[in-house]
Amino acid sequence: MLRSTALCIALLQAATALVSPRFALRRTPPLRSTTAAYERERTPVFNFDAAPEATAALWERIDDVVMGGVSSSKIVVGDGGAEWRGIVRTDGGGFCGTRTAALDAPLDLSKADGVYVDAILTSDADVARRAWKLTLRTAASRSEIVYSAEWAPRGPDGVGGPTFVPFSDFKLVRGPRIVEGAPPLNATQCASVYGFGLTLSRFGAASVNMTEVENFRDGPFAVKLNAVGVYGDQKVDVPAIGKNVQESKPNSAGRPTIKNNGLILGLALTVLRPIASLVFSEEGRRRRQARRMLIKRGCKSDWAARVYGQRVVKRMRGLGAGAARLEGLREFAKDAAAYALSFPLRLAFRAIFGTVRLIRRLRGKKALPAL
Ligand SMILES: *[C@@H]1O[C@H](CO)[C@@H](O)[C@H](O)[C@H]1NC(C)=O
Ligand SMILES: *[C@@H]1O[C@H](CO)[C@@H](O)[C@H](O)[C@H]1NC(C)=O
Repeated sequence: MLRSTALCIALLQAATALVSPRFALRRTPPLRSTTAAYERERTPVFNFDAAPEATAALWERIDDVVMGGVSSSKIVVGDGGAEWRGIVRTDGGGFCGTRTAALDAPLDLSKADGVYVDAILTSDADVARRAWKLTLRTAASRSEIVYSAEWAPRGPDGVGGPTFVPFSDFKLVRGPRIVEGAPPLNATQCASVYGFGLTLSRFGAASVNMTEVENFRDGPFAVKLNAVGVYGDQKVDVPAIGKNVQESKPNSAGRPTIKNNGLILGLALTVLRPIASLVFSEEGRRRRQARRMLIKRGCKSDWAARVYGQRVVKRMRGLGAGAARLEGLREFAKDAAAYALSFPLRLAFRAIFGTVRLIRRLRGKKALPAL
């Protein structure tokens, strides 16, 4: 039992090493809360102070869900306002994030000079032992490619102002890495902004290769969110944003909008959407990848990889044996349902390509390559 747990941890570490690219140690970035920026006009886009509940509802979590959610966070609204709270665990990835749900109509922020974040780290004073990233999405897709820049909350003493990040600081990234050769963000591109995001990670986005925070502080954190907005010479006209945000589930792809498409289409989408989200689940895909990696590294079967994964999750989340088993069964049931639901589709594809191959063979032509 103990041996297999140790083996599993070793396997996980090997798996992490496999996916984690070369990185260098990162120096703490300078804070950008300069007086000059401080005196600019500020337009809050997400005013957590003014309307904590409604504003928090516009954000969803995007924590590291590899191996069934090892790091986790959420925005909690209490007497003191909105607080982004979570636990970062570095085993198997390790980052916490929150982003706005898909915006129906993009925001025109082209009159602004940059983004500001007004937030206070309330859990401890180790601001510099974490990398704080701010992302902007200038395309309607929900892909991994976004513009990213570093920021930092104030320490728990509350001294200092918001962090002001000029658009030109944002670089195009895929995950924690910079997309080489891509020009930096500019105000013109910010004429259509589809989303904002905040991430806490052990990797900064300062260079092409990943740079790791020295002496990274993992474990619990809490950040009081006051506002996220834009700044510049003038106030920017930002529409009441709650109306533009569609509902979307955590970690799910953005939903297409239905506009006067008729009852039938609406009904069909209502039925198909949960099925599609099950079959094409991002979480399911990542879990499948993790299991494949474990199998490559010595796990005997898919089932054995599941049992290993479950044991790790149990240990990290401090679940009881019963609860961990239940969670494992729940995931298995989801995967099985997704498999069953996609079966007719795969059958149909096989039939089509099988027929094509047969016809070609009958005609004496070369068969299509196996799919
Ligand atoms: C802004 O960036 C886009 C895309 O990189 C580029 O095509 C455009 O020329 C830039 N505009 C200005 C004013 O720099
Ligand atoms: C990134 O890593 C590669 C390979 O290790 C190295 O050749 C390159 O110089 C690094 N680039 C930067 C900007 O550190």
